[in-house]
Amino acid sequence: MLTLHHSPKIIRYGKTHFIRVILQECIARHLLCGTTTGEGASQNEATTDELKSAFREHRVETEGHVDRLEQVFESIGEDAKTQKCEAIEGIIKEAGTIIDETKNDTYTRDIALIFAAQKAEHYEIASYGGLVALAQQLDLDTAADLLVQTLEEEKNADSTLTQIAENYLYEAAKAE
Ligand SMILES: [Fe+2]
Repeated sequence: MLTLHHSPKIIRYGKTHFIRVILQECIARHLLCGTTTGEGASQNEATTDELKSAFREHRVETEGHVDRLEQVFESIGEDAKTQKCEAIEGIIKEAGTIIDETKNDTYTRDIALIFAAQKAEHYEIASYGGLVALAQQLDLDTAADLLVQTLEEEKNADSTLTQIAENYLYEAAKAE
């Protein structure tokens, strides 16, 4: 197993990478919370009340993730800043295309929105999973505890979307 403690080079790289990913996550959260893009748009464009409310609830959680990231910065003695995150920009752009390609008030729209939203959730799960592992290796205990909480919320958001799709959306969309 990789042990960061034995190599100063890896420790240095690990810290730089940790800070870079956190900076990218900050901007990603702000984009996801935007009212005309990301989760804001998905919430407004969804057909069913169940999906609208799932997006609404996760959007509130996402705003909390920004506060948590600021606490992570504080715990490692860094200023809370942001850095461009091309991955999430691409996912949000794709969500916009999906909205353009599907009709309002259809179950197909909701299925498509779930596909797009789950790409964002999986990206977030990968980022936060990596950050938690790195924080633990670097003995950043406070940061690790904070990041685990966000990771769990991302995983729950992802399974909620899967459940909504499987409960009745696939069947309803087939009948359209
Ligand atoms: Fe999320």
